[in-house]
Amino acid sequence: MTDLPFPDTVRVDADDKVRGRPIYAADDTRPGVLLHAALAVSTIAKGNVTDIDTKAARAVPGVRLVLTHEMMGITKSAGFIMGGGYGFQSLQPMLSPAIAYRGQPIALVAADTLEAAIEAAHLVKASYAEEPFSVTLNAPGVEVVNQADTPLKNFIPEIAAGDADKAFAEAPVKLDAVFNCPPQHQNPIELIATVAEWHGDNLTIREGTQNAEAVRHGVATALGIAPDQVQVISPFVGGGFGQKNSLQMQTVLAAVAARETVRPVKLVVPRAGVFHDASFRPTSRHHIRLGADRSGRMVAAIHEVEAQTSRHDLFPGEYTATSSRLYGFANFRGVERLVRTDVQTPGYMRAPFEHPACFAMESCVDELAYALSQDPVALRLANDTETDAATGLPFSSRHVAECLRRGAELFGWAKRSMAPQSMRGGDGSEIGWGVAVGAYPGLATPAIAHLKVTDDGDVEISIGGHEMGQGIRTALANAVSRKLGVRPEKVRAVIGDTRGAPQHLTAGSWGTASAVPVAEDATDAMLKALGELSPAGIAGRTPADILKAAGRRSVDVEVQRKAPGQPDAIFGRLRAGLPSVGGPVYGSFVTFSYIAHFVEVAIEPNTRRIRVPRVVSVADCGRVMSPRTATSQVRGGVVWGIGAALREASEVDPHYGGFLNADLAEYMLPVNADIGSIEVEFIDKPDTVFNSAGVKGLGEVAMTGVAPAIANAVFHATGRRLRDLPIRIEHLL
Ligand code: MOS
Repeated sequence: MTDLPFPDTVRVDADDKVRGRPIYAADDTRPGVLLHAALAVSTIAKGNVTDIDTKAARAVPGVRLVLTHEMMGITKSAGFIMGGGYGFQSLQPMLSPAIAYRGQPIALVAADTLEAAIEAAHLVKASYAEEPFSVTLNAPGVEVVNQADTPLKNFIPEIAAGDADKAFAEAPVKLDAVFNCPPQHQNPIELIATVAEWHGDNLTIREGTQNAEAVRHGVATALGIAPDQVQVISPFVGGGFGQKNSLQMQTVLAAVAARETVRPVKLVVPRAGVFHDASFRPTSRHHIRLGADRSGRMVAAIHEVEAQTSRHDLFPGEYTATSSRLYGFANFRGVERLVRTDVQTPGYMRAPFEHPACFAMESCVDELAYALSQDPVALRLANDTETDAATGLPFSSRHVAECLRRGAELFGWAKRSMAPQSMRGGDGSEIGWGVAVGAYPGLATPAIAHLKVTDDGDVEISIGGHEMGQGIRTALANAVSRKLGVRPEKVRAVIGDTRGAPQHLTAGSWGTASAVPVAEDATDAMLKALGELSPAGIAGRTPADILKAAGRRSVDVEVQRKAPGQPDAIFGRLRAGLPSVGGPVYGSFVTFSYIAHFVEVAIEPNTRRIRVPRVVSVADCGRVMSPRTATSQVRGGVVWGIGAALREASEVDPHYGGFLNADLAEYMLPVNADIGSIEVEFIDKPDTVFNSAGVKGLGEVAMTGVAPAIANAVFHATGRRLRDLPIRIEHLL
């Protein structure tokens, strides 16, 4: 084993990417072979289809099939991923005439051309029996469920430490505030796209997904065929962010259409459809009560959350799992409530719970700093902890204080004046400096890795993982090449492909912490195997040289690894495509990643436009595996946080249901001109208690804490405490 630093490799897929070589599902054209599909969707928010007339649609030249709920045969739901199944929701559209939400598919058209499919989909005429519906948290008719009273309590523990109500009642300094976060839709550039193709009884699905194994098992369940009749191929994903983390509702429809037409069928959901055919970040309301003594020690926190779910599924809330870990709260009580509304089931959108939870708690901590006239950085440092109050266990590593100190130094925080409205820019802008920390659980999954080297110098690792742009191929190449002494470009990673190693869902920022340690184990096993081939030793020799000298064409090894404390049975779940993630509590320790963000905002004097000229972010993600992709991840997370703070909201239509701004023109996102300087640093201290590679996870923690840092900076600039996201010009007029 070598002890080289991790190389700052250029992304191993960079050349292919800029040349447009990766082929995504939607890139499959094959004129004359492939049929194109389009969906007709419900124009009501709730009720039943009473009649569906497909005559005009079927008459469009080139139309081969118009599929409705009357023609789905024995197809069934593959179940909800958080309820023991495989789909983003339990409701598979088109299995019955029932309509649960606006935009739900009611028919699929397959045609020779996309134009014919779209035209025919518009000609599908449905009659409905409408029912009343509720789409906002406060609407009459919603149903509020205490998560602790549902089966979810068996795998999502309520967070409680000490006696938070008593400690809050007795605290000399009290804050009590409500924060609101809107629904949002992640909009990966790659639309949700499926190509379904049968070869006899075997089905191939090409689709950008974060969870090829769940798509495989889910489609098999839905169609009543064996999982080994299905293969799912997803070598590159054009952005996922949680939207592509389970079986999509269109995949089964495309597979049925392909079976009925005996042709490969391509279904690309258009942008407006993505807002209704896939999961999204549910709206959430956060009631925070924070108590402190006069010195600023936080003695109590109560975090009550109400988050949206659908009528048909309970999408579990895990907000307080993170807010409770920000500081050493000796007394903490978390409450998660789910509000059933008439929407598709919400899901995991980047830092799904952690971004809203950190927004609420870290905004409130800033309010506490002002209530006590204490510097917001000093207050945070004074409340740091090495022990997790919720479990009494130590953190495997926690460098929040270093993130805050280093960030303050890089940002020049010492020059900040405490009073709101006390700093001005040259053009009269109100300048505000804000800080907040973010946290994200350190999670890991089991993984199986198959490593092969050949005498012509090729190295191939087949492993669970999906490349959705975050750079997992580069992290794997770095890990394997560093130990084997080959160039990173020589390492080929077979990922996102059910023909190789079992594919676990890649999400939750666990990709690197799950794949890299097992890749390193496989490399160690390979070095041992090569050593046995070479009695003279392997030092200074390449695998290819060793193989040639031994007269061998290739050597294979296979190893497996699980998260700390997981039972061996977890590999059965992995192979069955079921979520198998462990953490953040691991028997004897608790693991979280952390980040501190320092933000400057400038409020323009006349327009009140909020600009963010400067951000400094310092992250504690354990060891940095790939400095280049890690830095890029943090920049992306900060941009996402700026969007969440100042732009993004899916506008709910209370009169007709569904989401109104269902396109990239009206769903507001930051653009390049909205982004200033983003300076990124890492603490880069390996967490070898968590895993041998010392990696904790980075993708999502990067976004946490950005929104409160901005809101806190807006308060510093203007004296206005804004507790609802997004913060827009009209809130500052
Ligand atoms: Mo991510 S929201 O865990 O794909």
